[in-house]
Amino acid sequence: MTSVTAAAAATVSLFFLLLLSTTAAAATLSTDVSALKAIKSAINPTTIPSYSCLASWNFTSDPCSNPHVTHFLCGLSCSANRVTQLTFDPAGYAGTLSPLVSQLTQLTTIDLSDNKLSGPIPTSLFSLPNLQTLILQSNSFSGTIPPVISNLKAIETLDISHNFLSGSLPDTSSLLTLTRLDLSFNKFTGPLPKLGRNLVEFAVKANRLSGDMPKTSFNELTQLEVVELSDNSLTGIIPGWFFLQPALQQVNLADNGFTGIEILKPIDSDLVAIDAGYNKISGYLSANFTKYPMLSSLSLRYNKLQGPIPEEYSRTTTLSRLFLDGNYLNGMPPKEFFSGRSSVTGSLGDNCLKSCPTSSQLCLKSQKSSSICRQAYGGKNKMRQKL
Ligand SMILES: *[C@@H]1O[C@H](CO)[C@@H](O)[C@H](O)[C@H]1NC(C)=O
Ligand SMILES: *[C@@H]1O[C@H](CO)[C@@H](O)[C@H](O)[C@H]1NC(C)=O
Repeated sequence: MTSVTAAAAATVSLFFLLLLSTTAAAATLSTDVSALKAIKSAINPTTIPSYSCLASWNFTSDPCSNPHVTHFLCGLSCSANRVTQLTFDPAGYAGTLSPLVSQLTQLTTIDLSDNKLSGPIPTSLFSLPNLQTLILQSNSFSGTIPPVISNLKAIETLDISHNFLSGSLPDTSSLLTLTRLDLSFNKFTGPLPKLGRNLVEFAVKANRLSGDMPKTSFNELTQLEVVELSDNSLTGIIPGWFFLQPALQQVNLADNGFTGIEILKPIDSDLVAIDAGYNKISGYLSANFTKYPMLSSLSLRYNKLQGPIPEEYSRTTTLSRLFLDGNYLNGMPPKEFFSGRSSVTGSLGDNCLKSCPTSSQLCLKSQKSSSICRQAYGGKNKMRQKL
């Protein structure tokens, strides 16, 4: 034996010794094993395909011990003898989530996304003290989110989008670690809730939320960058303070019942995109939108805006997408839009504009008929006065 191979052999045996010792040390805590057993037995066995993670959960071997060659190949991670992550593969598992999941008190991550789990989210889950990431998106969970959600003291990411949850949105104002909250595509009703002040992203698209934009929801949210409220039944006037939130970048308020929009000049703003299309917003188009130094995309399409398009819209260098189609805007659109110098794309069609050149992409959709426009401006006589 050369010294090199002797050293190699020593290294290899040391490796196996280490392996044996970690195996011995990692006998999973019995309450974690019983929780995992309960979690697997709550899944309908006919929905556990042979290639899936859960199929490899065979409790003749220890869940946390290494190496996992045939059993417990995936679906969980451990640290020493405790389960720290529960991460189902999207195999189409149907069934429920066992309430015994709360025995896994060292869990930092639960990700069960893209399966067919149904029934309520067990209330006990919200007592997990170390949970940082909870992703249950694209399942069939129903029922409500209980107020005890405020016990998730370590939670950072909460995504329960694309389920069948109902009731009112939970108050998350005491969850100061929460940065991302996505409850989109459910059946939530009632008003917007109070939010934790370190939230960065808030999404509740496609629910049945109502009421106006309450100051109490967005008070002191200095980190908030993304707000997705589209496809709900929110009403009232979108207040000017909303767009002045210091970190705000993207706002989607489309497909609601808002009747007005107030837009104030910012001192400084990172706002990049505003979509308030498909509402019932009336009044004039404010030039203040053009004072947002980063704003590159603005949609107010399919509302009830009247009056002219302020010249400022054709002079900004940041605005590249402008959708104002489907309103009652009148007068002549700013000429600079069509001079070749403006790089704005979008649509000004389906309004009451005069001489929108059809050679421009912006004017492809034709304008409303003069009778519809006359009606919008209060009939023949008033129309004459205005012109
Ligand atoms: C679990 O593993 C044992 C030993 O490897 C094996 O005999 C048994 O059939 C397995 N059970 C299932 C349900 O796969
Ligand atoms: C523009 O913003 C200023 C204050 O920032 C406000 O006083 C004014 O009413 C706004 N104008 C319009 C047309 O929205």
